Amino acid sequence: MPKVNIKTAKTAGFCFGVSRAVSEAERLSRGENSVATLGELIHNADVIASLAEKGVRVVNSVSEVKKDDTLIIRSHGVGRAVYEEIEAAGINFIDATCPFVKKIHDIVSEYSCKGYDIIIAGDENHPEVKGIIGHSFSSVYVISGASDLENLCKSENCFSNNKQILVAQTTFDLLKWRECVEIVKKHCTNTKFFDTICSATTNRQEEALALSCECGIVVIVGGKNSSNSRKLFDICKNRCKAYFVENANELKKDALSEIVRTVNILPPNAEFNIGITAGASTPADIIKEVHSIMSEAIKNDDTADIDFMAEVDKTFKRVYIGNRVKAYVVAVHPTEAVVDIGTKHSGYIPADELTSDPSLSPKDVVKVGDTIDCIVTSLNDAEGVVYLSKKKVDAAVSVEKISAAKDDNSTLEGVVTNVVKGGVIVSCDGARVFIPASQTGVPRNGKLEDLLRKTVPFKVIEVNEARGRVVGSIRAASKEVNDAAKAKFWSEIEVGKKYTGEVKSMESYGVFVDLGGVDGMVHASELTWNRIKHPKEVVSIGDKLDVYVKAFDPEKKRVSLGAKDPNDNPWTKFTNEFAVGDVIKVQVVSITAFGAFAQIIPGVDGLIHISQIANERITNVNQILSVGQVVEAKITEIENEKMRVSLSMKALLEPATADAEEVPDEKTEE
Ligand code: F3S
Repeated sequence: MPKVNIKTAKTAGFCFGVSRAVSEAERLSRGENSVATLGELIHNADVIASLAEKGVRVVNSVSEVKKDDTLIIRSHGVGRAVYEEIEAAGINFIDATCPFVKKIHDIVSEYSCKGYDIIIAGDENHPEVKGIIGHSFSSVYVISGASDLENLCKSENCFSNNKQILVAQTTFDLLKWRECVEIVKKHCTNTKFFDTICSATTNRQEEALALSCECGIVVIVGGKNSSNSRKLFDICKNRCKAYFVENANELKKDALSEIVRTVNILPPNAEFNIGITAGASTPADIIKEVHSIMSEAIKNDDTADIDFMAEVDKTFKRVYIGNRVKAYVVAVHPTEAVVDIGTKHSGYIPADELTSDPSLSPKDVVKVGDTIDCIVTSLNDAEGVVYLSKKKVDAAVSVEKISAAKDDNSTLEGVVTNVVKGGVIVSCDGARVFIPASQTGVPRNGKLEDLLRKTVPFKVIEVNEARGRVVGSIRAASKEVNDAAKAKFWSEIEVGKKYTGEVKSMESYGVFVDLGGVDGMVHASELTWNRIKHPKEVVSIGDKLDVYVKAFDPEKKRVSLGAKDPNDNPWTKFTNEFAVGDVIKVQVVSITAFGAFAQIIPGVDGLIHISQIANERITNVNQILSVGQVVEAKITEIENEKMRVSLSMKALLEPATADAEEVPDEKTEE
């Protein structure tokens, strides 16, 4: 008996982009809205029929979309005009354009704006190519292969611009692409080229090439309209006998009998390989069916040297719930990040599993191209979908970091994300830290909500790694900062040192100013050069005040401050402007038994002694003067040391005939 091996390509079956689009459609079909896809979601009649059974309709234009439909843009993508049409019509839509296709849109859009012509290596009738054309602002040329490109490059005045870019349809033949690149290098020196064949395509084509070299027959399973399946067939048919079938039924029609005939005429000791590969839009169950029917038809127990079921299972079950895996970010949407975890699964990280900070959106946390650590949180092998969490890994790492912070008593920072019973939750690098209300630093009658979304420092006071519970204290962190500030303050304070502080409280005799953790007192008389009855006449709580140290006592923790600016000293101003003998207008500000005080300038009053008010003897100042009255007086004496001024109204009068009774002399005061 000849030995027949059936080898199935590891890359056979749904690619990432197709799997994602199909699972989106299935998810939406379970929702309330009706679902429509713009064109057939994938090139596979069985999958389309199965989706139709679930109520997913195919529409061929935006005008066919109903009011309540959720429209899915398939992985092939669409042109800019279609997006505009969808948005103008107010249609609810999900964009399942494969990230690899989106990347081509971006390249074409950018370079066409810069004045480059666009050359696309691909099939001009394929929807993906039509979509790419729809993102160009300049001339587009579609070539099917090297000879097309060579002719284009050689023909005179063929391009609208003198610079071009060459991109490939994602499923373009890898060997043909390499030929195109050689031609570009040879003929079109002004052409940049971007290898936009997706990795799923590259891997499939390379594996198909290898399979066709070691097998006498290769069966390619895929939809007849599937560009990438046809490419696999083209690659294989040049090297071995190749059959392109859509499913097991089609295999049975005539390909199977030809394969059996070939096997039956093999010499008894021969060893023969049959390969199976499949396009990116072929579901795993169809591949399995093709494999089992072929094995059955050949009836050779040795054929199952590679158990396809096991292979498929291996690829689908390489991950388990709770696995920690590396994930490569391939797309970032407002509600999720799409990742590749190196299996056939489509990986999704919902926005709330990316970060525990609700104020951040997915694009704030990851970007395309990042490789991140995640934990598998749920798995659906049948649909090839895996859901992951980044924040759980972050939290685990953070708990370790938090434990270390507790050990060395260091301060951490986090964002207050929630107010809960008895305190607040702080998110610190993905870990939840509970801060009891008494440790928040918010006064008893204050509102914990005021802390929401604020970044706060905290000390770790308890860690239970097993339960993932962390308790912190904002108050302890603040106290440490305050204690350090106070120690620094007392080590640096000296008489005359200037500070700017905030007025924290006020009494009738003065105000208390926060100098940075330590309060100092400014007596009312030190607040201003002018006479005041209460500090509130010149400052308010919360005001910033420039002060200087008059005296301090580190043991009693007392600081006495002054706030009067020496440059504004009214006495200096007075002595610069006035001299003994000057006659000036003054306003009476107060009256005493021995005379009246009158303001010369703000901050400097002079005394008009009772004996200097009139020629005649008076017993009561009020007989002649009243508060507020403006009178003319002569400066008779200035005492610099005591800052006193004596004034006389009498000096301006004609001498009296009779002597007034002598009254004991009093000096003026400021
Ligand atoms: Fe995307 Fe490549 Fe599949 S472009 S849809 S991953 S074949």
